[in-house]
Amino acid sequence: MKIFIDTANLDMIKEINSWGILDGVTTNPSLVAKEGTDTPTRVAEIAKILGDRPVSAEVMALDAEGMIKEGRELAKIAPNVNVKLPMCVETLKATKALSEEGIKVNVTLIFSPLQALMAAKAGAAFVSPFVGRLDDIGTRGNDMLAETVQILNTYGFDTEVIAASIRHPTHVLDAAEMGCDIATIPYNILKMMVAHPKTDEGIAKFKADYEKVNGPSQ
Ligand code: E4P
Repeated sequence: MKIFIDTANLDMIKEINSWGILDGVTTNPSLVAKEGTDTPTRVAEIAKILGDRPVSAEVMALDAEGMIKEGRELAKIAPNVNVKLPMCVETLKATKALSEEGIKVNVTLIFSPLQALMAAKAGAAFVSPFVGRLDDIGTRGNDMLAETVQILNTYGFDTEVIAASIRHPTHVLDAAEMGCDIATIPYNILKMMVAHPKTDEGIAKFKADYEKVNGPSQ
C-alpha cells in the first residue's frame, strides 16, 4: 500500500520524506489555511520536495467551468501536481474534461461507494473516501471503504483508492488488509505506526545486558 501524508506543513513533509517511505502528499483548503498560506504557493513548495511523486491540490471553484480553469492553473505548477475536486455533478464534468487533457484528478469528499464509482467512470485517477468523518456520525467508514475497493477492483478501473480522513493507526491497518491502494495519513499517526512499547523495552534490555559486561555503550 502506498503511504501519503495528509498535511500542508513543510517540516512534517520533510521529516516523513527523510524516512524513505513517502509516496505522495494530499492537501486540502483547511490544511493549507492552517499554514497561513495559499494553495498554489504551498503546493509548488511541496511538489519540489516530492520530485516525481504526486501532490493533490484542491480547487475552490464549485462549477465545472471554474474547476477546469483552476485545475489547469494548478496542474501547471509542476508535473506531479494532481487536481483535487469535491464530489458533485459539476466535478464529474470537470473530471472528464481534465483527465482527457492528461491532468490527473483526485475526487475528494467521497462518502459512498456509488460516489466513487461515478468518479471513476468520469476518469478520476484517484478517489478519496473519508473514513473518519463517517465514523464521526455513527456510520462505519471501513464498510464504505471496503465496498469501494471491491467495486473498483471488480471492474478493473485504473482509479486508485485513497483511504482518507484517517484518525488512528487501525484505520491504516484496515485499509491495508482490504487491499486499498493508498492511505493518506496525518503526521502524528505516521509516528504512532512506527512505535511499539515492546520495541522500546527490547532496546533498553539489550543495552542494559550489553553494558553489564562491556560497560557504557555510548
Ligand atoms: C483527504 O484528502 C483529506 O485531506 C483528509 O483526509 C481529511 O481528513 P479529516 O477528516 O481528518 O479532515
